Amino acid sequence: MQLQEILYSQGFGTRRVCAGLVQQGFVTVACTKPVDAAMEFEAKGLVFTVQGVAWEYHEPAYLMLHKPAGTECSQKPSTYPSIYTLLPSPLRLRPQKGPVQGVQAVGRLDQDTTGLLLLTDDGKFIHRMSSPRHHVPKVYEVTTKHPVDATQVQRLLDGVVLDDDPVPVRAAACEATGTHQLRLTLTEGKYHQVKRMLAAVSNRVEGLHRSRIGELALPDDLAPGQWRWLQPHELGAVGYQPPA
Ligand code: URA
Repeated sequence: MQLQEILYSQGFGTRRVCAGLVQQGFVTVACTKPVDAAMEFEAKGLVFTVQGVAWEYHEPAYLMLHKPAGTECSQKPSTYPSIYTLLPSPLRLRPQKGPVQGVQAVGRLDQDTTGLLLLTDDGKFIHRMSSPRHHVPKVYEVTTKHPVDATQVQRLLDGVVLDDDPVPVRAAACEATGTHQLRLTLTEGKYHQVKRMLAAVSNRVEGLHRSRIGELALPDDLAPGQWRWLQPHELGAVGYQPPA
């Protein structure tokens, strides 16, 4: 694949902009010969720099973000900054494959919720991870306003009815981890589900952090606001086989 095509696929601009970046010598690749526009590269695994900034070819893109508090998961946020401002522009500008451009969050977290968020431009991955049929467990660390007791834990496990839905929702797992702390595992993702479940047992969420999605835990060394690529084995850990 020619460098300008590689740059285009990664979101570095229109085909014309990408051709310009290569022609003006703004792109470097670690190889023995000087780079020219006609050279062909094996895209998979290629690391290059664009105006001095290193980039690794990823097609499609799968990444994790440590969502900080005070950010919205929307592209067009109403009050707080969008999580998308935490990502480099090529990830936001990747050519449109599905209905939208760039990577998309796999589900949403509330503005005040922190923790593990996955993003991708692979529509099948979004569907696989969000579909209630696949029951991907999501683990939340909850800080509560009132002390947690055994009755509340049991009710969350047995199922509670939320205001707009007669079918009870239950936690796949729930344990008190402190007097005001709960670890709650959900396999579905209804709107404000944790907050509404806690309200249904007469408690209230004061802090909410997602620590795990399936076998994928938020790494200790990924600070709030930071992102990194998912490794192939991490996709396997959440039960996904990316397209060949
Ligand atoms: N449940 C909630 O109430 N909020 C979130 O952000 C995620 C799950």
